[in-house]
Amino acid sequence: MSLILESDLNSDFESNKNSDYSLLAPGPVNLHPEVRKVLSLPMIHHRTPEFDKILKKVLLNIKTVFQTKEDVFLLTTTGSGGMEALLVNTLSPGDKVLSIVCGKFGERWAEMAKAFGAEVSILETSWGKAVEVNAVEEHLKKHPDTRLVLCQACETSTAVSNPIREIAAVVDKYPDTLFLVDAITALGAYPIRMDEWKIDGLVAGSQKAFMLPTGMAFISFSKKAWKFVEKASVPKFYFDLRKEKKANLTGETFFSSNVMITRALDKVLDLILDRGLEKLFHDIHRRAEFTRIFGEKLGFTLYADSPSDSVTALKVPPSMDGQKIRLHLEEVHNITIMGGQDQAKGKIIRIGHMGYIQDFELIKLIKSLGLSLNFFDATFITPEQITALTTEASKWLEQNP
Ligand SMILES: Cc1ncc(COP(=O)(O)O)c(C=O)c1O
Repeated sequence: MSLILESDLNSDFESNKNSDYSLLAPGPVNLHPEVRKVLSLPMIHHRTPEFDKILKKVLLNIKTVFQTKEDVFLLTTTGSGGMEALLVNTLSPGDKVLSIVCGKFGERWAEMAKAFGAEVSILETSWGKAVEVNAVEEHLKKHPDTRLVLCQACETSTAVSNPIREIAAVVDKYPDTLFLVDAITALGAYPIRMDEWKIDGLVAGSQKAFMLPTGMAFISFSKKAWKFVEKASVPKFYFDLRKEKKANLTGETFFSSNVMITRALDKVLDLILDRGLEKLFHDIHRRAEFTRIFGEKLGFTLYADSPSDSVTALKVPPSMDGQKIRLHLEEVHNITIMGGQDQAKGKIIRIGHMGYIQDFELIKLIKSLGLSLNFFDATFITPEQITALTTEASKWLEQNP
């Protein structure tokens, strides 16, 4: 018996275009209309053959995005819970951990590791800079007993993309060291090849490139990491993956399944796999390129030395306040972007490129950013310059499909 009625899927849904609101944050993101339809379907129980079938399919298909043959686990938690799950399943109190810190989320992971009793060394970059692979290599040479190396693939607070592939190659030389990667704002947005690059633990978040509501984290471990799982002795219960692994083998989740998001994930994976992962990466890269080019033409400068494709951080002109620009954009132009956090507060704005974003939203973004700059300083950019740039932006999108 199918509990999903075709007629439910055909009901009329307002598209983003009609709603005139753009969520261009680096997560959560605009949902795909097909996903919104699935999210409004009647609830079903998670211990039913119908859900079991969906779960089985999702657990298989999600491996394509992780680019792994290993098991991927669906956890009902936010991304931070996924980061915690990677840690508690591989860590024992007193273990040496190298935490690469390029911004807020790196700081968070280091704090988390400390909270679980790790002896944490911090390799910090100044904000806007990616970590140097040599620095990681030097640290491991001096401290070969390091058990875990933690790093953000994309540090969302600075929009920096770190050299994950190169760091993984360094860590791979150490049989007793794992490389755990927070790819919450990276996985599904640009290539992260878990098996090929030899990443040992990988976490993604539902509200980012997976185009889903916030509330699930997806994680996977390499074979090397599973050997650590057996020995890891920090206390854990909800995030003990051994229970989840056993349950998945019988086609179920250990705790109650997140039916709504899992069902929507099934739809997203169908959309991604139908069009191909490369197409998804291409679209996100195109939006990032567009934003970098026209952001600079508007008078902003790039904040990150190694800019991520999933989010762009633009330094605002020194005479202006990024927080005010962000608020103005939301209140007057109906576009949500993010400002800077901590030391970058007021200095940058951050624009996300993941999720369901249509070209008209990109053109509107450039126009609205121009109008906001003009609102705060009429001498900075003129209405004529904004019109000319908006026309150029439309052409760019046409010429770069
Ligand atoms: C790189 C990165 N790590 C971790 C997190 C934390 O995820 P959550 O807020 O879902 O717990 C985020 C959220 O934006 C993130 O961008």
